[in-house]
Amino acid sequence: MNIKKNKQFGKVAVLLGGSSSEREISLKSGQAVFNALIRQGVDAVSIDVDDHILQSLQTEHYDCAFIVLHGAGGEDGVIQGALETIKLPYTGTGVMGSALAMDKIKTKQIWQSCNLPTPSYVVVQHKADLLDVPKKLNWPVIVKPVTGGSSIGMAKVESEVELMVAWENARQYDSVVLVEQWIVGKEYTISILDNNALPVIKLKTPNEFYDYEAKYASETTQYECPCGLTEDQEFAVKAIALQAFNVLDCKDWGRVDVMVDDYNKLWLLEVNTVPGMTDHSLVPMAAKADGMGFDELVLKILDLSVH
Ligand SMILES: Nc1ncnc2c1ncn2[C@@H]1O[C@H](COP(=O)(O)OP(=O)(O)O)[C@@H](O)[C@H]1O
Ligand SMILES: [Mg+2]
Repeated sequence: MNIKKNKQFGKVAVLLGGSSSEREISLKSGQAVFNALIRQGVDAVSIDVDDHILQSLQTEHYDCAFIVLHGAGGEDGVIQGALETIKLPYTGTGVMGSALAMDKIKTKQIWQSCNLPTPSYVVVQHKADLLDVPKKLNWPVIVKPVTGGSSIGMAKVESEVELMVAWENARQYDSVVLVEQWIVGKEYTISILDNNALPVIKLKTPNEFYDYEAKYASETTQYECPCGLTEDQEFAVKAIALQAFNVLDCKDWGRVDVMVDDYNKLWLLEVNTVPGMTDHSLVPMAAKADGMGFDELVLKILDLSVH
């Protein structure tokens, strides 16, 4: 067997797992990234992140960390800051961009300040804040934990009674809850790689929205790429998504989730700074549509981190 050696990246620690609610997805994404690096001859080691991560990283010499952690602790600037303290280069967005993108309210505030379109919303910190929802928004609305991911703890809500139940559920994940105007329309996702938007993917699910089941279990979720937008529309969507990504100080790679309503107006939902990386995840799908295979994508992300 011809085993390639790819020495240009040195020894790479693939950080996966962790303790967030998205641990299971991270284990799968991380394994896929690790496998790709090994196939490409990179000296990679996979590390399931726990409280001793800095000690583990300092015990052996590593040249770079490939972060494949989703959610709290791994996608929110915490591990990024920890790696800065030991001067270990890492893939993707830095401390501030990670922290901002993880917080759906801070994200929206920055977009609003840049005149980028994002659905109206109410921040619910205390029960009394729920009274603002029918005053400021129209039913239906969507309830989200502010720092959530993978659609965990989210619900579409059509009335005040349902709102109370959804809020009680969402605040188990985060004490601050975002209630957002429900957008009727189509959903798209835009993968960003090296300051460039990859082909747009359209997501279609028979579920009420792209929930946890639709993301990871369902056989009925459909992904369309080409996405069905006209060339001009796709160009415009990509440009806004890239701007939305950049104003949050995100870099190198990620994914912007958007909706386009029935009047063809684009609404920005959120940015993922460490999106799923299994070989059937969305960023690899978009890269493939652009002629880039999974292994090449992984090497490109790694390469960006060292330059
Ligand atoms: N304002 C909205 N209107 C309609 N559907 C929405 C809205 N916000 C989110 N969704 C649905 O919920 C899903 C998850 O929301 P998102 O903000 O992307 O959070 P997550 O971090 O969990 O992916 C989206 O993919 C979309 O299907
Ligand atoms: Mg999303």
